[in-house]
Amino acid sequence: MSIAALARPEVRDLKPYEAAAQVEGTIRLNANEAPWSGSDAFRRPLNRYPEIRPAGLRETLATRFGCPTSKLLVTRGSSEAIDLLIRVFCRTGIDSIVVTSPSFSMYAHYARIQGAALVSVAGDPDNNFIPNPDDLLAACTDTTRLVFLCSPNNPTGGVLPRSVIERLLRARAERSVVVVDEAYIEFSNERSTAELLGQYPNLVVLRTLSKALGFAGARCGAVLGPEGVIDILSAVQAPYALSTPVVECVEDALSGEGIDIAAQRVAEIIAERDRLAAELAKLRMVSKVWPSSANFLLVRVHNAETVMAATREAGILLRHFGGELSGCVRISIGSATENQALLDALRTLDVDGAANE
Ligand SMILES: Cc1ncc(COP(=O)(O)O)c(C=O)c1O
Repeated sequence: MSIAALARPEVRDLKPYEAAAQVEGTIRLNANEAPWSGSDAFRRPLNRYPEIRPAGLRETLATRFGCPTSKLLVTRGSSEAIDLLIRVFCRTGIDSIVVTSPSFSMYAHYARIQGAALVSVAGDPDNNFIPNPDDLLAACTDTTRLVFLCSPNNPTGGVLPRSVIERLLRARAERSVVVVDEAYIEFSNERSTAELLGQYPNLVVLRTLSKALGFAGARCGAVLGPEGVIDILSAVQAPYALSTPVVECVEDALSGEGIDIAAQRVAEIIAERDRLAAELAKLRMVSKVWPSSANFLLVRVHNAETVMAATREAGILLRHFGGELSGCVRISIGSATENQALLDALRTLDVDGAANE
């Protein structure tokens, strides 16, 4: 059985939107477009609709992320992929998703929009928030359509062992799609689970250009999975989802020296992450810095509100979550200068003593 059979019946046999034909070298009077371009800033004229699905970009991303083109859909960031997956697989009021906790809040957000139930499995803070695979499996039921595993995990930075991912894939074969969100994988030593796509027909992998490649503003990512799933996601995604400026900007970014520069920047972020972690650990106000394989650090401080207020006062924004992480702040790794500014602000506060109680 193809895992695509678990898709909502309404979308399973959805025919893709039939767009006006786009044929090179023809006079295009079939799409109600303007005959002149309002801008000549791009290689492709802006008066024309972009390709329904950008074939060249799809090929480039498939090569980069290590899968056949037929197993990849280009999305508006991986956020769109999360939304599409939940809309395609979860019947309102019936189906559910399983997530680990704490993790990226968009899974819950889109589940709520779709009316899908959320089952959350807490990780152990003393074990890098890694969830127990038995707990994850116990949380799965007949209505669990999607299991979201974020590795490295946002906001904790930990990596889920490959053995846990594979155990879930095997145990949920033909019953749930296991989605591995690899938004931060470039900052880790892990290999992408995309290499397992041929082995596990219920595996879906999310990648994004927003983090290591530095293109959050372009809104571009990809979902990798079995052809049947990719075809349904594509039928549900808006036609012409990726605009011409975005397609061209990302094509340029992924060609030539852009990639080498990005790799160098990732190395710089990793070095800064390790430096910052070591320096933060020396502060009295800091009681724990979790090991991170991403471009951020989760830090437990004695008084999170005071730290947030003082850094805000110094013109620096950190992230403070509630609930189980109410005593923690998440710090994205900036440039060396930005990180130094943060350390200076925190050291002043540390001496002051206000944040140490
Ligand atoms: C784990 C994770 N997945 C997905 C995303 C979405 O990223 P984007 O939509 O920019 O690709 C984020 C963004 O912060 C994230 O942290």
